[in-house]
Amino acid sequence: MPTKEQVTEKLTAVIDPELRRSIVELGMVRSIDIRDDGRVEVVVSLTTPGCPIRSHFQQAVVKNVSQLDGVSGVEVGFDVLSEGEKSGLQQKLGRAKLPEGALAQVKNVICVASGKGGVGKSTMTANLAAALVAEGYKAGALDCDVYGYSIPRMLGINRKPDVSPERKIIPPASPSGATVMSIGFFVEENAAVVWRGPMLHKAIQQFLEDVAWDELDYLLLDLPPGTGDVSMTLAQLLPQAKILIVTTPQPAAQSVASRAAEMANKVDLEVMGVIENMSAFTGPDGERVSIFGEGGGQLLADELDVPLLAKVPLSGELREHADDGSPLVIDEPDAPASQMIREAARGIIAQSPVELPVMQAAAGSPPAGNGSGNGSGVSGTELPMAQ
Ligand SMILES: Nc1ncnc2c1ncn2[C@@H]1O[C@H](COP(=O)(O)OP(=O)(O)OP(=O)(O)O)[C@@H](O)[C@H]1O
Ligand SMILES: [Mg+2]
Repeated sequence: MPTKEQVTEKLTAVIDPELRRSIVELGMVRSIDIRDDGRVEVVVSLTTPGCPIRSHFQQAVVKNVSQLDGVSGVEVGFDVLSEGEKSGLQQKLGRAKLPEGALAQVKNVICVASGKGGVGKSTMTANLAAALVAEGYKAGALDCDVYGYSIPRMLGINRKPDVSPERKIIPPASPSGATVMSIGFFVEENAAVVWRGPMLHKAIQQFLEDVAWDELDYLLLDLPPGTGDVSMTLAQLLPQAKILIVTTPQPAAQSVASRAAEMANKVDLEVMGVIENMSAFTGPDGERVSIFGEGGGQLLADELDVPLLAKVPLSGELREHADDGSPLVIDEPDAPASQMIREAARGIIAQSPVELPVMQAAAGSPPAGNGSGNGSGVSGTELPMAQ
């Protein structure tokens, strides 16, 4: 059985790429737990909840700790440094400010993607953002489709955003409570947007940095259809993002949709699940109508080994409410399409890494054993699984 000291020793090889020191030295190892069966649980404290290098830490901790004899598995949990701990770290490093990636205050970044156009990405993005707000979370939707932006309209926003005195763009709150940002706010209506390669990359980067992103639990990005430049650019700028794939039910759509998964794979982003849209609905006489066939979503989810989060039926009212800028999930939460979208939202919530509250060492609690000497520890708390 490995000892805490041995695990700590291994963790000295896990380097924060931005601060260039080991997580042990930085005091970012919150706790180490070694179970009788050889499983090791490590909680790492991040500087910001949306830390883009979270997956880097997760992989590096697993890789290094697994090398020890007697380790049967490694689980990595995350929490966030308290303000006091952060200022301690800043002092230690002699820096005024710790690095923050784009969207540092956003806990979960989810890109809604598809292999082809018109499958309902924008409709799902808008309704999911509203559904997440209805579940009690702070959520936003960002329209990244420079060629056919539609999110502001679907969420009932028809004005340009305000600009703060610091010249940051403030995302307006929609009537559903979800905040909305769109690259379309900055493009003349109906203007032909022909952005390519480096210009597009720069525009998106600038755009992400210029927005005053609030603290959000979820930000959903509506990607353009397919796997082009915009998607690749975003993947580079947002390495913490996960991908949600929308597909239609015909089994033939599976191969097209799996292109979106291949893209995710290429840029090292995790696919979190599949939503089948335009699925069978039940007609007024109780008859089940499957205009676009059956089973495509499940086939794709099985192929990718990810959950099928929902099958959202074809629904005239879902389209009408999107066209009117008032999401169906809010107006008619019990409609069949709304119920499925709410189920998908709960699936997303269930998959999000749980953040432990930041705990300071209570008197008499055992030391964290992280060798950093900061004395803070967590005990008896269920570990969240890193996603
Ligand atoms: N489940 C559904 N039932 C009925 N209509 C739907 C459903 N989902 C989407 N639609 C309608 O289908 C059309 C295409 O949907 P949407 O714009 O959301 O797709 P998209 O994937 O974002 O398209 P694009 O690739 O052009 O961005 C819209 O008119 C929308 O209202
Ligand atoms: Mg769209």
